Amino acid sequence: MVPHVSDHHVVVVSNRGPLAFTVDDAGALIARRGAGGLVSSLGPAVAATDATWIACALSDADRRAAAGGAIDADGFRVRTLDVAPDLYRQYYDVVSNATLWFLNHGLFDLPRRPRIDRRWMEAWDAYRKVNVALADFVIDEADTGATVLVHDYHLSLIGARLAKERPDLRSVYFHHTPFCDPTTLRVLPEDVRVELLEGLAGNRACGFHSPRWAANFEACCDEVLGRVPKTYVAPAAPDADDLRAVASGLECDAALESLDAAVGDRLVIARVDRIEPSKNIVRGFLAYEDLLRDHPQWRERVVFVAYIYPSRQSMPEYQAYDAEVRAVVDRINAQYSAPGWTPILLDTRDDFPRSLAALRRYDVLLVNPVRDGLNLVAKEGPLVNERDGVVLLSPEAGVWDELSDAAIAVNPFDVGGTAAALDLALNLDPVERHDRWASLREAAERRSPQDWFDDQLAAGRD
Ligand code: G6P
Repeated sequence: MVPHVSDHHVVVVSNRGPLAFTVDDAGALIARRGAGGLVSSLGPAVAATDATWIACALSDADRRAAAGGAIDADGFRVRTLDVAPDLYRQYYDVVSNATLWFLNHGLFDLPRRPRIDRRWMEAWDAYRKVNVALADFVIDEADTGATVLVHDYHLSLIGARLAKERPDLRSVYFHHTPFCDPTTLRVLPEDVRVELLEGLAGNRACGFHSPRWAANFEACCDEVLGRVPKTYVAPAAPDADDLRAVASGLECDAALESLDAAVGDRLVIARVDRIEPSKNIVRGFLAYEDLLRDHPQWRERVVFVAYIYPSRQSMPEYQAYDAEVRAVVDRINAQYSAPGWTPILLDTRDDFPRSLAALRRYDVLLVNPVRDGLNLVAKEGPLVNERDGVVLLSPEAGVWDELSDAAIAVNPFDVGGTAAALDLALNLDPVERHDRWASLREAAERRSPQDWFDDQLAAGRD
């Protein structure tokens, strides 16, 4: 049994863990922080405890690390589950991302997707099997009466199994994405809808970044199960201290120096994202193209800095979107480039200090998702920005609930409207820019990763 600091044992379980392993030239295992919003928002608070974090092995190096049992590194105690590659593909690609992620972000091209056929039902069985394996891992690891924090849409079925096999555990679920409304959920067969929602309702409570997603979940449960489980709303928060430490570090300074050399004294529109269809990256570039066409005064005076890195490349939908993004960038740069000026500065390397350099430098930050559970970048930007930068934000992002007083709204589907908002933001007077920036920063500082973690623990106690 693991000794623990808090008054009882805490086990965290998620698909992606806090550590990603690689092998160096000498063949030694190297641990570095895992990617994505879940890890960056949950990591800081968990590292402060001696919770056990259970996750899936995502690479051969992860699998090698898994073979050695529990790993203590970077302040984390991690146990990774080795899942057979084809079982993982069905659970992760087919069900988690191509179905549940697309369902909850409203991304389906309904005449074609989803296609619930024999192949999909086999993948659903694989999803069930991985959820059972992770639940059994938790059952083996958790002390009596432990709190289990179950994170995200990959693990929808764990709560019901824990409730059945270990009723002493307090399992609290958190959903990182939007939750769809009952009409949208009906694309799934009824027995799958029931199993999915029963799995989630098996937890003591289900948490969401926004009241909108909680309300949708409750409406789905009411329609499908005839009951409404306990929910709570607790938006995640960036770790302001960690962000500022990295932003003031040598790597970020060097990245900012080379960015300044590239853009000079021009105004910067920036975005920092995974290359992800729901982030609406293509429409963001089309709006910039409209700006350059209809407001020629911005040509050679603005640069669009896009630090966006590939994600979920095992999926055809993401490969196609990646290609579409690059094609639009190439077309716009070919059409508008002039000596000494490239309209879009695209960098697809996943480099956190470099991303923070763009957040320090932007005059306008574009965050225009078609839908987003929260969007941490919209809070991270104002925390490190040094230019009184403005945030253009889609109200379809969960973070809109916290930033709507100071961000400028953009309808994610309205390319012309987004171009007009870019023009307005670039023209904003200095006093209003500063007031908006100060208000965004204050909102972003209101909550910490510890507050978010404490909200989850509290939801399991009440
Ligand atoms: C979103 C999800 C997280 C996921 C992250 C990165 O933030 O809510 O659960 O870890 O994207 O996606 P990936 O598929 O690479 O883990």
